Amino acid sequence: MDLRNRRGIITGAGQGIGQALALEFAAKGAHLLLVGRKEETLKETARLVQTAGGSADILAQDLTKPGAVDLVAESVQSWDTLDLLVNNAGNVRAGRLEQSSGADIRSMIDLNLTAPLLLTRALLPQLRTSGAGTGSLVLNISSEIALVGMPFYAVYAATKSGLAAFGESLRRELHGTGVHVATVYPGATDTAMMSTQNADWERRPVADVVADVMTGLAAGDHEINATPEEGRGMQQLNVTDPLAVDAAIAPGLGELEVAVKDHNSI
Ligand SMILES: NC(=O)c1ccc[n+]([C@@H]2O[C@H](COP(=O)([O-])OP(=O)(O)OC[C@H]3O[C@@H](n4cnc5c(N)ncnc54)[C@H](OP(=O)(O)O)[C@@H]3O)[C@@H](O)[C@H]2O)c1
Repeated sequence: MDLRNRRGIITGAGQGIGQALALEFAAKGAHLLLVGRKEETLKETARLVQTAGGSADILAQDLTKPGAVDLVAESVQSWDTLDLLVNNAGNVRAGRLEQSSGADIRSMIDLNLTAPLLLTRALLPQLRTSGAGTGSLVLNISSEIALVGMPFYAVYAATKSGLAAFGESLRRELHGTGVHVATVYPGATDTAMMSTQNADWERRPVADVVADVMTGLAAGDHEINATPEEGRGMQQLNVTDPLAVDAAIAPGLGELEVAVKDHNSI
């Protein structure tokens, strides 16, 4: 897939994986609309985008708020070409399901699942038009948790599995249109999102994760596993013998619950 000179939207572009992806596309000449809640971090990404060789507009919006997705779509309605949508913005709140607040549950579903679905729907006419020309790309940032559900992350896992299933289904729906739908499964990555948990998961540098994404996209992959190959034992076991995964995790349940009890990026 030719990733040069893309024109599109990246949500959650003020920091972390979203910012790093913005800079990768910028280095290939992209023009981007950077979306997130904080204007200051978006401005900083826009500055870095320019330095990297691209250009960017910013739009500060809380994607969980009614009408926010429509405002994003309106911002790009006049663009001749829209051939990139990166659904990256996401949040997480860990904890036992029965101790999770309704507000936290809704916030994760609204941001991680509803917003990407609505945004993709709103932009699909433009993505189709561009797709019929040189091809367009919808890139959904899911998570390794969609491959191995982890205890105390049931809601987050539901949103990320939902996003992955959305991508698979939509990819088939759009077969032959030139709109490519790709899903990324990062494992624990060293970003602000992970700063409030203390589990002993090794966090991968953002640069490594994003390098895997760009390599996968360039190769035309639609399912991009951005975890280190040598660390995929649990993923494989979960396919062949999921109860063995339950048994492997069970002895450490108490310790894990304590380690992730404050994990919150909402
Ligand atoms: N880090 C990991 O270990 C990991 C692993 C697997 C998957 N992922 C996924 O990768 C994606 C990026 O994660 P990250 O690690 O880069 O997280 P991060 O550093 O917390 O960044 C999240 C981004 O989303 C934006 N955002 C948060 N709430 C928003 C809202 N209500 N409306 C609009 N934008 C909002 C944030 O900007 P504002 O605060 O300015 O809104 C920020 O730019 C997420 O979907 C995450 O689930 C991360």
